Amino acid sequence: MKNLKGVILAGGLGKRLYPLTKITNKHLLPVYNKPMIYYPIQTLVDAGITDILIVTGGNHAGEFLRLLGNGSEFGLKHINYTYQEGEGGIAHALALAKHFAGGGKVVVILGDNMIEKNIRGYVEKFKKQLSGAKILLKEVEDPARFGVAEVKGNKIISIVEKPKKPKSNYAVTGIYMYDNSVFDIIKTLKPSGRGELEITDVNNDYLRKGKLTFDVLDGWWTDSGTFESLFKANKLIVDREKKGQIIL
Ligand code: G1P
Repeated sequence: MKNLKGVILAGGLGKRLYPLTKITNKHLLPVYNKPMIYYPIQTLVDAGITDILIVTGGNHAGEFLRLLGNGSEFGLKHINYTYQEGEGGIAHALALAKHFAGGGKVVVILGDNMIEKNIRGYVEKFKKQLSGAKILLKEVEDPARFGVAEVKGNKIISIVEKPKKPKSNYAVTGIYMYDNSVFDIIKTLKPSGRGELEITDVNNDYLRKGKLTFDVLDGWWTDSGTFESLFKANKLIVDREKKGQIIL
């Protein structure tokens, strides 16, 4: 079997964080003692994924290369980069990874998603899944901000993007695992109300075909694309780093 490849989506204009993102890309902003993009890279590397593509865009794309180079800080020999023109949404950004995926499966992580622990176990399970997709859910207090999954037993019934009346507290985290048919699914998508190709539409396509599995993520999870969530991410990461330190 082909090795799983990793894709980090780090484009967009980060408008919800304006003016912080007026002169830089959201994923280069600090979260405690590192630029935001360091965390999703580490998440993939910790899961044993070393073949990584960063999809970025906007006016500051060159800064990623200056910051990360070939990824030696993460023990990598090479990082792949590609550029998203405009703001077409998460699924549009993912489409740019088709060539990189080379016919194989991909683990996709949004560049502003942070976790407490690691995803190695879920990735190992997905490697054994013959086809389809796997998503990771997490219970949150403010589900209306996310894609929300209605779950019955071990089955997802529906996924709704930013529902006014969420049917559960299960947010769909920005960590997705797809077989190669994801690229054909993206080609069939139409822009949503916010003018973007939605990743939720991709997940619902897999769901309709009975090919979507899920796990509930262990440990905390947060995005960091709003002032509140960026602040929360900083607090969670500080706590996590301090716990890991041996104070003499
Ligand atoms: C995106 C997805 C949403 C998901 C969230 C996770 O939302 O559209 O389904 O729950 O990421 O971070 P956005 O950050 O684009 O509002």
